[in-house]
Amino acid sequence: MDGYDERHPDDRLASNHPLLLMHEGTPVGTARLDVTGPRLGVVRLVAIEANLQRRGLGRLLMQEVESYARRVGLEQLEVNAAKEAEGFYQSLGWVAVRSDRENPLMTKSLSPGEIQ
Ligand SMILES: CC(C)(COP(=O)(O)OP(=O)(O)OC[C@H]1O[C@@H](n2cnc3c(N)ncnc32)[C@H](O)[C@@H]1OP(=O)(O)O)[C@@H](O)C(=O)NCCC(=O)NCCS
Repeated sequence: MDGYDERHPDDRLASNHPLLLMHEGTPVGTARLDVTGPRLGVVRLVAIEANLQRRGLGRLLMQEVESYARRVGLEQLEVNAAKEAEGFYQSLGWVAVRSDRENPLMTKSLSPGEIQ
């Protein structure tokens, strides 16, 4: 993605979790889960390698993010979606709560995970 600053301090905050989706030892996607409240997380910097999009990897990435979020005790996720990615989140069960914004605010409630 354009504009990513790898030295940005937010990537190193203890409450923010930078995640990689790996395939055979190679990173193919990324997301960062920021824990912003006792039960709330915000998903940022979601991306699949450009030449691997539209093959189901984004769905897989978000399933893994959700399961990770449940494991750290979150019940609700939010994303400030890129306009062109709104349909992607919709197909994964996210709901737009502020579609009037430049980056529509979308949310997803997490079903309870197994206790581990
Ligand atoms: C958005 C992104 C992460 C989706 O990943 P992907 O691997 O292409 O998505 P998938 O192939 O797993 O698609 C999952 C579902 O979303 C749908 N979908 C994917 N991209 C979509 C889009 N741009 N618009 C509408 N629907 C979309 C697919 O059709 C699929 O639905 P289906 O299973 O019902 O057929 C990827 O396109 C990307 O990295 N885009 C550039 C960066 C970006 O915009 N990130 C989002 C920032 S908020």
